[in-house]
Amino acid sequence: MIILAIAIHILCAVIWVGGMFFAYVCLRPSVPGIEPPPERLKLWSRVFSRFFTWVWIAIAGLLASAYWMVLVEFGGHAEIDLHVHLMEGTGWLMMGIFGFLYFRVWPKFRTAVAEGNMPLGVKKLAVIRKLVATNLAIGLITVVLGVTGRYWG
Ligand code: HEM
Repeated sequence: MIILAIAIHILCAVIWVGGMFFAYVCLRPSVPGIEPPPERLKLWSRVFSRFFTWVWIAIAGLLASAYWMVLVEFGGHAEIDLHVHLMEGTGWLMMGIFGFLYFRVWPKFRTAVAEGNMPLGVKKLAVIRKLVATNLAIGLITVVLGVTGRYWG
């Protein structure tokens, strides 16, 4: 069971953090110049719509595997190492940022794109970009914490 839990945990982390890396580092600099400009916003709207579904699946898998490990395998919060406490903190921070992005910013972006309101779409995309950059940075740190923690935690 621990092998299954770790496998689910790591696959979900790879999907979420790897997806943000691809979006931010590869796709973002490739989109400027694609004409006409509204097409760029439509592309982002479609990309996010698919990616965010996977982020929800990844969050569900991360939480289920994480709390199974903490509560069943490791014997509760009192028993876990420092790196798991830190991972729990950064993990919830990432989920909070994603929740804000998904429920507060994404609907406004999606509606702006659907209604052809370019200025609003560009504004909301800039907010999404900052939130994704923040979560990418925290996500990379979290992965390093998770993998290296057993040697120092
Ligand atoms: C609610 C938040 C989370 C909790 C309670 C949690 C819990 C855990 C636990 C108990 C382990 C096993 C640690 C060990 O064997 O020493 C682990 C490993 C790991 N976690 Fe998390 N985790 C959380 C969120 C995250 C997130 C958001 C990510 C990345 C996006 C992540 C990435 C990892 C990685 C990469 C490992 C190492 C797997 C390995 O090499 O064995 N975790 N986590």
